[in-house]
Amino acid sequence: MMKIENFDSPIGALVTGVDLSDDLDPDSFETLQDAWNERSVLVYRDQTLSPAELVNFSGRFGEHEIHVLNQYLHPDQPEILVVSNVKKDGEHIGVYDAGRYWHTDLSYLAKPSRGSVLYAIEIPEENGKPLGDTIWASTAAAFEGLNPGLQERLDGRTAMFDFAKRYRKLVADGDQNAVLTDEQKAKTPPVEHPVVRTHPVTGRKCLNVNEGHTVNINGMDDDESLSLLEDLWAHIVKPDFTYRHKWRPGDVVMWDNVPTQHLAICDYALPQRRLLHRTTLTGTRPY
Ligand code: SIN
Repeated sequence: MMKIENFDSPIGALVTGVDLSDDLDPDSFETLQDAWNERSVLVYRDQTLSPAELVNFSGRFGEHEIHVLNQYLHPDQPEILVVSNVKKDGEHIGVYDAGRYWHTDLSYLAKPSRGSVLYAIEIPEENGKPLGDTIWASTAAAFEGLNPGLQERLDGRTAMFDFAKRYRKLVADGDQNAVLTDEQKAKTPPVEHPVVRTHPVTGRKCLNVNEGHTVNINGMDDDESLSLLEDLWAHIVKPDFTYRHKWRPGDVVMWDNVPTQHLAICDYALPQRRLLHRTTLTGTRPY
């Protein structure tokens, strides 16, 4: 029987008693959808999912977005983005630095992703301890944790988001190979979004700025904007607002991108291998 136990943090719950390779019956689907909206991050352990089964499961929760990084799409299932540091014939088989900066998936699109599902196949480890953890932060709890004066100052403001920012950061941090193709750049022009967005189901207000993609807050000079963004980024990722996941092969984590952002800890390197399959669900224009 399916059971959902909340973690001791404002987000996250462990779901047991469900095999995600089976079709979900309507009651189980509804229970999971409610838990996803309420807890933002759902963790399932000990799953075995073929690419088609992963797509079948995540497709119950929305339409799939085909990721702009087309060189890393799964060859049989383009709905899957391969996340991996593994190389084949000298070439990366997946996004090798996915999640390196705090971000919300696809926040650089006019309609950012509603949710993502990540399935762990290989997880690096050292002395029996897993590496490459992922941390999620609740941007809803973070907004609620701001003083009312700052909440009012932010509400109604907009910010610019740009996928190319991530690539400028990667190059500045020493990865000269981090490039977007001209076609990928053309598909991801900078977009404007509210700094505070509303969750379409719960109605909670969520801080909507992230280190990976947010460039500046509109209507402020560069220094004021950067200083405020840095304060907000530091606030959002306070331990009180986060859940840290230690991966095991067979884990599936499904998260809601509206009230969260996440970071993958890059504390491993080949020959330690990390391989995960990610699906991404389409979203709506933030308001
Ligand atoms: C991602 O940002 O979607 C990937 C996170 C991870 O690799 O843990």
